[in-house]
Amino acid sequence: MKILVIGSGGREHAIAWRLALEGHEIFCLPGNPGTAQVATNQMIDDPDLTVVGPEAPLVAGVVDQYRARGLAIVGPTQQAAQLEASKIYSKEFMRRVGIPTARFLQVESLEKGLAALDQFEYPVVVKTDGLAAGKGVIIGKDRQEAEAAVISLGPRLVIEEFLVGEEVSFIVLSDGKNVVPLEATQDHKAVGDGDTGPNTGGMGAYCDGRILSAGDIGKILDTVIEPAVRATGFTGFLYAGMMMTAGGPKVLEFNVRLGDPETQALMHRVDDDFAGTLARAASGDLKPGELKWKSEPSVCVVMAAAGYPGNVRTGDHITLEEEPPERRLPAGMPAPQDGQLQIFHAGTGIGQRGLETSGGRVLGVTASGADLAGAIANAYAGVEKIYFDGMHYRRDIGRKGLKRWYNLSASGT
Ligand code: AMP
Ligand code: GLY
Repeated sequence: MKILVIGSGGREHAIAWRLALEGHEIFCLPGNPGTAQVATNQMIDDPDLTVVGPEAPLVAGVVDQYRARGLAIVGPTQQAAQLEASKIYSKEFMRRVGIPTARFLQVESLEKGLAALDQFEYPVVVKTDGLAAGKGVIIGKDRQEAEAAVISLGPRLVIEEFLVGEEVSFIVLSDGKNVVPLEATQDHKAVGDGDTGPNTGGMGAYCDGRILSAGDIGKILDTVIEPAVRATGFTGFLYAGMMMTAGGPKVLEFNVRLGDPETQALMHRVDDDFAGTLARAASGDLKPGELKWKSEPSVCVVMAAAGYPGNVRTGDHITLEEEPPERRLPAGMPAPQDGQLQIFHAGTGIGQRGLETSGGRVLGVTASGADLAGAIANAYAGVEKIYFDGMHYRRDIGRKGLKRWYNLSASGT
């Protein structure tokens, strides 16, 4: 098939990489220097199938436009994309359909936002209504922080109860009726080790068959995915950002696309005809239970540019192969094993000296391993070979899994 992948991040490089491995001819719009290694970065008018990565084209209605031209495309309609585009819409949808989520109030003025804080305990969660690339949420630990959040993110806000639990990205592919769940992944949203510092679009992810039990998957399908798909006829990838609370799984947010960096870890584990599954999703013919996964866990470590998630400096030269002697594997990490290593490009460009940084999240260093510890070691061994001025990355990606399953310290280095 000739497949068009829309987007230019690590997610799109990972999708293009997987589909090219399956022998398809891939085009990326606009793509990046990484996708150029596995695809042609160019628009085509007659793709057999189109896959949309980021939310912006979905919210702008690209799926409706392609369908009107009779083209097969994987993604939600502009209307269904409101589930991600507006937190107020999304929370009201969950309330209407009865999907478990944090108790919330929606406000549309600063005064109401400040007054609404009285209805919550601390910490409290303040969310801006519109798209914010993962940066529109502030957790206020006391009144002062919460007021500052209302002022900086307002006036259109959702203010909600803080949920405690393990956070899991649960993504399904839907053809409008039939749903195929992907393997669960865990993202690391905060910029710093131990989940400290401001939120980002995601600093790394891991994918391991043990993240959710079969019982939890069943609960999420029954209480979240099934009602959401039934109410909207959702097509494409529906991403439920879940909190696994003591009171059961609750939705933090819906996204209407694959996650990034989650997809970089997920594509490593696909052990099936992914292109065929995508084509069946676009034509309404998904088969329950399709899409097999490799058992080996995978890990993606995001290497970010100076300043991210604030004001990002770009134009720093990237070396992919050198190993500065002063840098070592994080302490306590096992030695690397055999495992595929892929460096997915996100914020990279070609400058006068070659590869350089062009965005906040620069590279997603992704590897699998015989077990989670091995996958982590392999990914960080890949990270060690990369250098650019100002680079920073978390040293504890996947440690949460190690802590749960191997009793190791989650705090890292
Ligand atoms: P969202 O964009 O709504 O997923 O929020 C971004 C991040 O903020 C989530 O991935 C969580 O880490 C955190 N978060 C959002 N809502 C809550 C909540 N109600 N309780 C605890 N943490 C939350
Ligand atoms: N990594 C979180 C997201 O894609 O929204």
